[in-house]
Amino acid sequence: MKSKGLMKAGLLFLVFGLILLSGWVGQAQARVLEQDSDVTRGALLYDNWYAALGVQPPQGNMPVWERQTTNTRSGAETWRCVSCHGWDYQGKDGAYREGSDRYTGFPGVYPAVTQRTEEEIVAVLSGKVDPQHDFSPYIPEADLKALAHFLKTSLVNDNEYIDPKTFKVLGGDAANGKALYESQCARCHGADGATLRFRFEGRDATLGTLALLDPWRFLHKTRFGTPGTEMVIGYDLGWTAQQGRDVLLYAQSLPSGLEPQQSPSLGETVPSPVEQPGGPARNVFTGVLTAFGALFTGLGFALILGVFLIGVLFVIVWMIRGKKQ
Ligand code: HEC
Ligand code: HEC
Repeated sequence: MKSKGLMKAGLLFLVFGLILLSGWVGQAQARVLEQDSDVTRGALLYDNWYAALGVQPPQGNMPVWERQTTNTRSGAETWRCVSCHGWDYQGKDGAYREGSDRYTGFPGVYPAVTQRTEEEIVAVLSGKVDPQHDFSPYIPEADLKALAHFLKTSLVNDNEYIDPKTFKVLGGDAANGKALYESQCARCHGADGATLRFRFEGRDATLGTLALLDPWRFLHKTRFGTPGTEMVIGYDLGWTAQQGRDVLLYAQSLPSGLEPQQSPSLGETVPSPVEQPGGPARNVFTGVLTAFGALFTGLGFALILGVFLIGVLFVIVWMIRGKKQ
């Protein structure tokens, strides 16, 4: 009688464990299928390749930078793809248009890259077209390919969906954005987006601040991540472009610490040449949060495995007892 009870309990644990395990494996597989790591790698490099590579930026200004005088930033920042081509990938035709504080007159990469092969893009990045546009001494070949792959396959044009004057998202679904935000982002950034503070254009910023002042940077980082963190990102979650904009729309309603008339202000902010936005996690706290994120994923798996092993143990004990009788 006793051993029958044991057997039942054991089988129950085993079945339960198996169900959990297969669910977990399925989820992990879905995640792997969705993820093309070259895309996220390329996007991080586009944001800040020297932070993504963990190297020192080259000295002085990027040679191409000297062709313009409107943007007076200097040093490390002039080497970032985003400083010339923009978070919306559209350079002088997008958010960094004439009159904005970021104006350089340099072209965007979108939609030009859609006409190029990835090999041609790698050639552009290796100085084969313009010898001054040469990143091959600094960025390894595999990473140049990842950059090209990102540019070729994953650029999103949001400009029809963002009001060029107010920077507000047009036609989004704030309730959907709230649900997505609360399920994926709030655990690190807080329900009000203010738990993690970071530097943006020389100021202390929360997600609410960034969403209002630079919606394109918000979208790029939300979709593809930010160097130096293991943040949960839209691309890995399989989010559509619209889901990203929904989260942005919701974030635009979070506390920003800005006066209403202060936004938008890409054209008003004080230049800050030494600032390196989007660099590695800046303090122990953000590092610890990222680590906790990873730990919880690990814990979930350990728990499932534990349940499964207990099931196996029960069955073994039951078999041994059965033999003895
Ligand atoms: C200092 C400004 C500057 C920086 C930094 C910069 N670019 Fe460019 N990029 C340009 C300019 C200007 C052009 C136009 C062609 C030329 O004169 O080189 C260009 C052209 C391109 C093109 C070709 C677009 C087309 O017509 O097909 C691509 C792709 C590109 N850049 C990608 C990148 C990437 C990726 C990075 C970062 C690794 C980067 N750029 C960094 C200024 C810059
Ligand atoms: C595991 C914790 C974690 C989660 C979950 C997370 N983030 Fe982050 N996020 C971070 C950290 C750490 C930083 C870096 C802050 C810094 O630069 O100091 C960051 C930075 C950002 C930035 C860039 C700020 C800048 O420098 O421009 C944006 C935008 C952002 N997160 C949005 C989101 C959104 C949207 C979600 C939900 C999809 C999310 N984050 C989920 C930890 C997280």
